[in-house]
Amino acid sequence: MTPEPMPSAAELLAFYLEAGVDCALAEAPIDRLAEEAAADLAPAAAPPRRPLGVAESVPAAAMARTDAAPAPDVAILSAREAAATAASLEDLRALLEAFEGCALKNTATRLVFADGNPQARIMLVGEAPGRDEDIEGRPFVGRSGKLLDLMLKAIGLDRNSVYIANVIPWRPPGNRTPTPQETQICLPFIRRQIELVDPDILVTLGNPSTQALLQTREGIMKTRGRFMEYDTGSRRIKAMPTFHPAYLLRSPAFKRHAWLDLRAVRRALTATTA
Ligand code: URA
Repeated sequence: MTPEPMPSAAELLAFYLEAGVDCALAEAPIDRLAEEAAADLAPAAAPPRRPLGVAESVPAAAMARTDAAPAPDVAILSAREAAATAASLEDLRALLEAFEGCALKNTATRLVFADGNPQARIMLVGEAPGRDEDIEGRPFVGRSGKLLDLMLKAIGLDRNSVYIANVIPWRPPGNRTPTPQETQICLPFIRRQIELVDPDILVTLGNPSTQALLQTREGIMKTRGRFMEYDTGSRRIKAMPTFHPAYLLRSPAFKRHAWLDLRAVRRALTATTA
């Protein structure tokens, strides 16, 4: 059999790009396979340091993993404990900056915490930051953010009158879909963020945000456009699932549905003011 020709550097780069690998994490390549072989030969290593925010009570065995991130159940527990201690949005941001339980933090450039007005009566929650957000450190600043701004403008709102965040505050590498574990680890933080902002209306943008926050298994085609209830921990508020602007960019025919959803939000907002 004739061996396959070696791919050129350009072909390899194109392959990586296609697979979602679109940014370098370090100056020099790291051979992880060589690292693993060396670890197999080395005497038993000292237990990994306890990640910040993980409770003392976590059993040592549960932490005994070979990489820096703790097991997902330990990380979820530690996220819950950490988020519950945040007395303000500033506290919460600082806790997230110090949290070591989510491996996405290691590949993201920075934390993307929030944008807009923390006193707003409407809070919008997306899925996770993309490339532009990762660079700038603010949610929804790329193409879908521009569309979101237009959608808000259509109902007389802007970033001074809404508060915007994501379920996941770190960009997943190559914009891949966050894993269910990553979502569960980040969930206590966004829940606390919603509780601290205390909006009258929550808008979940897209399926992942809707399913994670409103605990439904139904898809966005079914959930959108109907007010649901969200328990902030201190009160029950209205929640409106609607399409994610990135989806609307790909499927503009659904823009009119999103427009109807946002008009319903506007009406509900006016009704709660009256
Ligand atoms: N998509 C999201 O869900 N959030 C962002 O911040 C940007 C794009």
